[in-house]
Amino acid sequence: MIPLDLDHPVWEQVYMVAPLTIVGTREPDGSYDLAPKHMAMPMSWQDHYGFVCSPSHATYVNARREGCFTVSFPRPDQILLTSLAAAPRCNDDHKHALQAIPTIPARKIDGVLVAQAYLHLECELDRIIDDLGDNSVIIGRIVQAFVAEDSAREVDRDAQEMIAHSPMLVYLHPGRFARIVETNAFPYHVGFKR
Ligand SMILES: Cc1cc2nc3c(=O)[nH]c(=O)nc-3n(C[C@H](O)[C@H](O)[C@H](O)COP(=O)(O)O)c2cc1C
Repeated sequence: MIPLDLDHPVWEQVYMVAPLTIVGTREPDGSYDLAPKHMAMPMSWQDHYGFVCSPSHATYVNARREGCFTVSFPRPDQILLTSLAAAPRCNDDHKHALQAIPTIPARKIDGVLVAQAYLHLECELDRIIDDLGDNSVIIGRIVQAFVAEDSAREVDRDAQEMIAHSPMLVYLHPGRFARIVETNAFPYHVGFKR
């Protein structure tokens, strides 16, 4: 084993498996912002969903002000759209690249979601945990959720076949991604209970 230099983030010295989501928020001028987040996951077995965000990002300021945000889970063939959502802002403080990302309106909150993403969550802000180093965690309660028909988990549907047919996107921080096509059942211990 090689000791890691803790003067630098551990996460820059190894690859880490992460989801890749696009968080949507409403800007003060009524337009909508989208930004990719990989430090993002359910925060409970119920309806909490959260992500790590820099307080300097518009996403943080928007979510705090508006009290809500959306989360879209892009497919592997939407990787370029996902990257566009992290385009730098122009002199007018707008991310014009967002115009290239097709969106649909959210139903229960004021927001937009990325069209063709396989999972859409609409969240109301639950809490913000600040001062985690330079970052914060933004946690929402899911108030509306839609899954694409080809990605819905059903007991009588073969999971391997379904995922092979509708591959999933995974982010390998820093700077890589993969398309998951082949999966296996987890070898749970006999009698395992959550
Ligand atoms: C692949 C990828 C993953 C990212 N993950 C995160 C993240 O988890 N948290 C975060 O604060 N920023 C993350 N970012 C950076 C922001 O999404 C990016 O700086 C964005 O432009 C901020 O936009 P905003 O100011 O409109 O919120 C990520 C960027 C990329 C390209």
